[in-house]
Amino acid sequence: MLIEKIEALKAQLNDLHASNEEMLEELRIKYLSKKGEITALFNDFRTVAPEQKRELGQRLNELKTLATEKISALRETFKAAAKEKNKIDITRPSLPGYLGTRHPISVVRKQIIDIFSRLGFVLADGPEVEDDWHVFSALNFAADHPARDMQDTFFIEKNDEDVTRNIVLRSHTSSVQVRTMDHQQPPIRIICPGRVYRNEAITARAHCFFHQIEGLYIDKNVTFADLRQVLLYFAQQLFGPDTKIRLRPSYFPFTEPSAEMDVSCMLCGGKGCSFCKNTGWVEILGCGMVDPAVLEASGIDSSVYTGYAFGLGVERITNLKYMVKDLRMFSENDVRFLDEFTAAH
Ligand code: PHE
Repeated sequence: MLIEKIEALKAQLNDLHASNEEMLEELRIKYLSKKGEITALFNDFRTVAPEQKRELGQRLNELKTLATEKISALRETFKAAAKEKNKIDITRPSLPGYLGTRHPISVVRKQIIDIFSRLGFVLADGPEVEDDWHVFSALNFAADHPARDMQDTFFIEKNDEDVTRNIVLRSHTSSVQVRTMDHQQPPIRIICPGRVYRNEAITARAHCFFHQIEGLYIDKNVTFADLRQVLLYFAQQLFGPDTKIRLRPSYFPFTEPSAEMDVSCMLCGGKGCSFCKNTGWVEILGCGMVDPAVLEASGIDSSVYTGYAFGLGVERITNLKYMVKDLRMFSENDVRFLDEFTAAH
């Protein structure tokens, strides 16, 4: 009976499911295509008795509308889902961008500069390519001093007859002190940070360039006691208030007397450990009272003025603070190494 077939299909349509668009298309073909089940019922309708035509016709039309609506409703849900999938969510927070870090040498250089700035030292700068006068001669290096030799110094222009005409890569930033003394009368209180070059084989413990900070203070009545107190303050600011210092006699051509300064070992506090080779001390800088000959070479009256100077390697201090074992890490720019200093700023 047509009416039963209509009711059966109606029940099916009310419970219509499709899990994807292909399945939905199959359902459309099943019900609504030329050979579909509902189309077949319209064929059956021709044989219906005239008195039933009105009612069955209406039901049949309702069935077709139901099928059309159900299928297009399902199609809409698939379309909406596809649209949702391709939609860009502009409210979503972006992925975190990669932030660089300050280089450990820069971090420590800044710490050191800050400490000396608090004591009234001002920054001074100078060229990396220098003449012999500013790197050696004005600093009281004898003409045959080994530091002028090929082993230590990189030469830009080398003059075999007259070493004072050499052009070199500066091997220390004492050259900046000379430049300052050349055009400024005391009081002079400067620190000179900068890159320096030495002709050494590159190993874990030595490099052909590194960074220095040198300090110079010239005024009336400057004494070795002033130097010692400034260096004690510096060491305690940098390594902590319990840090002790020790000055050992040494030699530099440009200072007299000269000393090397040790600080109490930051690992064992001075008791002795493998880091300080059981001495309790680690060396951190060279210093001394500026040799009168150096003052005179720059036109400063050594009978009126005295001064002290000191110089340290930033890589060395950084090693001591952060226990970096291999100097080469500082110039290889491996971001995994640099990332370890994110918290150091
Ligand atoms: N110029 C010395 C060096 O490069 C360091 C130093 C500076 C020593 C000032 C004493 C005084 O090794």
